[in-house]
Amino acid sequence: MHTSGDQRVKGIVLAGGKGTRLYPLTKVTNKHLLPVGREPMIFHPVRQLVGAGIQDILIITSTEHMGEVVRLLGSGKAFGCQFTYRVQEDALGIADALALAEDFAGGQPVTVLLGDNIFTHSIRGFVRRFLEQDRGARVLLKRVDDPSRYGVAALDEKQVLEIEEKPASPKSSYAVVGAYCYDCQVWDLIREMGISPRGEYEITSVNNCYIRLGQLSYDIVEGGWTDAGTFESLAEANAMMLACENRIGGLQEEKGGRP
Ligand code: G1P
Repeated sequence: MHTSGDQRVKGIVLAGGKGTRLYPLTKVTNKHLLPVGREPMIFHPVRQLVGAGIQDILIITSTEHMGEVVRLLGSGKAFGCQFTYRVQEDALGIADALALAEDFAGGQPVTVLLGDNIFTHSIRGFVRRFLEQDRGARVLLKRVDDPSRYGVAALDEKQVLEIEEKPASPKSSYAVVGAYCYDCQVWDLIREMGISPRGEYEITSVNNCYIRLGQLSYDIVEGGWTDAGTFESLAEANAMMLACENRIGGLQEEKGGRP
């Protein structure tokens, strides 16, 4: 892609879904508005994108809580970025939500973060290495104790061979975490893919398309990572962010304000 700066990548935060695994915490609010450490969860992916030099950010959430999300985040000025908002009407999966971002991307590459993924360290290097690729996609992997909860990567020394979504018998202990970089082929790939047995358009199917094209690279997560979609992982995310007062490791300076 050979772009001169990270400004040419657009950022997308996926913050929809029903958060059923956290019920009743999510009965009257969106999961991404729940506290993680000292801040609402959704501040974290925003700070990660801004820390990676990305200032043009699309927030996708459900109809019910878009009002509160906008009230919380505002224009982006306080974070040093600019927000665009889009509503996902039906919870038909991550790739379905991502499809809403095509116009926003305007042909530029994108970095997509799942709004409930928390990292102790900056993803800046991951985004930079993606920009050094000629084309394709890049994913982030993390070794975990319970791979069956995630998309799991089968690997050889050089590359990801296949990703399976929540496999009963995982082929490795490497989870594909919720941070993805895609070039502009992603929109056609989403259009062509089918719905999974659990009735969703899976992000794992998108990544498998890139594997078939021979265009999926990966990095290993630096530092700690967890999602925050279950009671246990939400507690872990809280402990992680309390320990560092929500400051992301590896950023020279704290980017963005603290509204
Ligand atoms: C999603 C993805 C899965 C990924 C995980 C990371 O799962 O489908 O591949 O490993 O996020 O948080 P979900 O948590 O939405 O079930």
